[in-house]
Amino acid sequence: APSIVIAPSILAADFARLADAARAVEGEADWLHVDVMDNHFVPNLTIGLPVVQSLRKATPIPFDVHLMIEDPERWAPGYAEAGAYNVTFHAEATDDPVALAKTLRAAGSKAGLAIDRDTDVTPYLDLLPHFDTLLVMTIKAGFGGQKFLPETLDKVRAVRRRIEAGHLEVRLEVDGGIAADTIEAAAEAGADAFVAGTAIYGAADPAEAIRKLRALGSA
Ligand code: DX5
Ligand code: ZN
Repeated sequence: APSIVIAPSILAADFARLADAARAVEGEADWLHVDVMDNHFVPNLTIGLPVVQSLRKATPIPFDVHLMIEDPERWAPGYAEAGAYNVTFHAEATDDPVALAKTLRAAGSKAGLAIDRDTDVTPYLDLLPHFDTLLVMTIKAGFGGQKFLPETLDKVRAVRRRIEAGHLEVRLEVDGGIAADTIEAAAEAGADAFVAGTAIYGAADPAEAIRKLRALGSA
């Protein structure tokens, strides 16, 4: 099977020890998933640009920034300039996703589009060639520790079909409730990048949790 991406979400880590949380998964994680929330797009508030700028200096792991914010045009380029590997914004938060993808690529990062639980992916399939990652929420965006929603996998299947049909180089990412008992279903549906917060940082040994998820998701 082609290689998959495992992206621990620091949302489930100790926010007073973020550098330690990054180091705990170095050598095992492919990306470090950073959830940015603004208490407007979602009813929760996490971290923003200054924290990402500081954390960027503390670890070599590529950052996968997930913007759950309104007005991504205003903020997204700053994360690319701060050295994020990939910056994902929500389809629901912008009127011109392609323009913002182009801005992000010009600013030096990959560009990602996220689809929340209640959003149909169909209108966005034609935009896939403009993106490097497509993130399907397998929960409702806003909080870690929620239950995986298997019905969201129909969207993953639809995106995978389009990637194959168009021979596109797009990572298909799932986020929310990914754990040892759900990652196989997500992989089978066509996901090849897996965000996991609770399943990794809630484990006694985060590195071991990643190895286990990688084995299950690669099968
Ligand atoms: C929630 C975030 C997720 C969250 C996942 O809106 O986008 O990245 O950290 O947490 P778990 O893996 O615990 O569901
Ligand atoms: Zn996320």
